[in-house]
Amino acid sequence: MKFERREFIKTLLAIPVIGGISALFISPFVRFLKPSSGPLATAEIFKQPDKPSPVREISFGVSDFPENWSFKYFMFQESNREYTSVGEQIKTIPGVIVRTPTSDGSPDFVVFSRVCPHLGCVFNFVPIEEEVAKGYNYAPPPGQKVFACPCHLSVYDPMQTDTKGRGKVVSGPAPRSPFKFNFVRNGDRILVSSLESGGIS
Ligand code: FES
Repeated sequence: MKFERREFIKTLLAIPVIGGISALFISPFVRFLKPSSGPLATAEIFKQPDKPSPVREISFGVSDFPENWSFKYFMFQESNREYTSVGEQIKTIPGVIVRTPTSDGSPDFVVFSRVCPHLGCVFNFVPIEEEVAKGYNYAPPPGQKVFACPCHLSVYDPMQTDTKGRGKVVSGPAPRSPFKFNFVRNGDRILVSSLESGGIS
């Protein structure tokens, strides 16, 4: 009986030692798989993958856009986890929000990144049809308002869709419509919260 108790106490004392040694070996492996984990945070391996998060959300009032085709440019900042001593990288993305027409006249919006999916220049909203025809090698039908890129003249139509959603390429070399920002409308407020994820294709 005495012997059993001694064995039991020895086992009890050994648990923290075994746990500590295991952590020492497991931790580098976990940090290899997920370098942003803390020194001994093995549980972090089960967490969601790192996602960009907004540095601050951008908001507008619906009344900021009194008529169809009213628009505003903005700069959206998001923080991306980085596997360095700094720990994050802040990315600034130029964006544009445009009020688009609807059949019943109620305000509707599109919110795009202005980074051109062709080679990354910043494109503009060009609501003057004559300017598009003269400067961008594309003659829009009457009433069509477009985004246009000054670098290689890609033109995007916010009212038409491609497989990626609104902003179809109607002229030029761009491979797809621009990336969209995710946003919600809450009463009179429009809250831009994040950029659509995904690759260029
Ligand atoms: S970068 Fe915009 S068309 Fe080439």
